[in-house]
Amino acid sequence: MRTQVAIIGGGPSGLLLSQLLNRAGISTVVLERKSRDYVLARIRAGVLETGLVNLLREAGAGARMDREGHLHDGCHLAQNGRMFRVDFKEACGKQVMVYGQTEVTRDLYDAQDAIGATVIHDAEDVALHDLTGSPYVTWTDATGTHRLDCDFVAGCDGFHGVSRQAIPDTVRTEFEKVYPFGWLGILSRTPPVEDELIYAAHDRGFALASMRNPQLSRYYIQVPLTDKVEDWSDEAFWTEFRARMPEDVAARLVTGPSIEKSIAPLRSFVSEPMRWGKLFLCGDAAHIVPPTGAKGLNLAASDVHYLYEGLTAHYRGDDRGIDAYSQRALARIWQAMRFSWSLTTMMHRFPGATDYERRMQDADLALLERSATARALLAENYTGLPY
Ligand code: APR
Ligand code: PHB
Repeated sequence: MRTQVAIIGGGPSGLLLSQLLNRAGISTVVLERKSRDYVLARIRAGVLETGLVNLLREAGAGARMDREGHLHDGCHLAQNGRMFRVDFKEACGKQVMVYGQTEVTRDLYDAQDAIGATVIHDAEDVALHDLTGSPYVTWTDATGTHRLDCDFVAGCDGFHGVSRQAIPDTVRTEFEKVYPFGWLGILSRTPPVEDELIYAAHDRGFALASMRNPQLSRYYIQVPLTDKVEDWSDEAFWTEFRARMPEDVAARLVTGPSIEKSIAPLRSFVSEPMRWGKLFLCGDAAHIVPPTGAKGLNLAASDVHYLYEGLTAHYRGDDRGIDAYSQRALARIWQAMRFSWSLTTMMHRFPGATDYERRMQDADLALLERSATARALLAENYTGLPY
């Protein structure tokens, strides 16, 4: 089998890249280790920057998002019960789209079906070969071993994938920061407590009120890394969540049974470079951000944008885009890393923090409440830097 671009991983990065390339007349094959149902059962974040919204439309996968997604003009920040609003529209003229990543992935699968793209599921033991020469990919399934020859490989296989490991250690540098806490998240069929997201710093720990639609809420609380999901009954979650929200918000919270409950550790991670020979990394394969800034999926989208531009130009005879890919993608990634780190640092309670460090967090939040300049900086980063 032969294709122009072999794409490893059928998550949002791989599917979006495949969809855009196919529509530009460039052939792809997506190799995904799991089943489609498995991929679609993952619950992830749900705040889309304008750049991603536009890419989905360009990919012909934006219709349902435009019907069912919700544009938000701002969000709320709270500090020990005191709440104020950051008006994105006023601060930087931009908005974000609230629409679940699971729905984005579903729409991309439907769009791939509609154009007859090749997505191979349950591909085991994917291996990348001859990445600096004539690249090819091998994998196995119940019928045996298969080989796919290609011009390029796009490694869109997430943090635990194989693509990043195909870059030799001597070439690769990894940067990592692990935070000493996680987020316990629940999804519940209840009306969201507020029209916009609430990011709440509290002495008991951080909490976030988010949503998927008017009947579906997504809430999180900061928990120690040693906590297990089984330790948290729904009742215990709601009690703790309420305690971290401003009183009036807590009073109108509608609770109900959780339909999903999980704990995610917080980390920042970057692997450089993002290109080696004919291999390009996209999305979580190359970088992870803590969820506080809602940047994970959006960074995957900007990588896809740069790679899509680079590859389409390559097939027109211009290699400048693919040669600059790693540098362009990383410049934007480090800005989002900085933003996610600063928001995480400001909003969470760190075990062992000094009183001085606690006062700095309060001062950072007070600065945002007082200064339109500070809010503009937050809004510009939260709604997404231009590509
Ligand atoms: N072979 C084939 N597929 C693989 C392999 C492998 N060895 N390893 C992982 N995969 C698949 C996973 O099963 C998954 O479906 O690659 C896909 C990677 O998808 P994601 O982890 O969702 O990563 P990505 O597509 O880059 O999505 C962007 O940003 O912060 C996040 O939550 C956000 O998941 C989102 C991500
Ligand atoms: C979510 O809705 O799951 C969500 C929203 C914003 C974040 C993180 C997660 O910063």
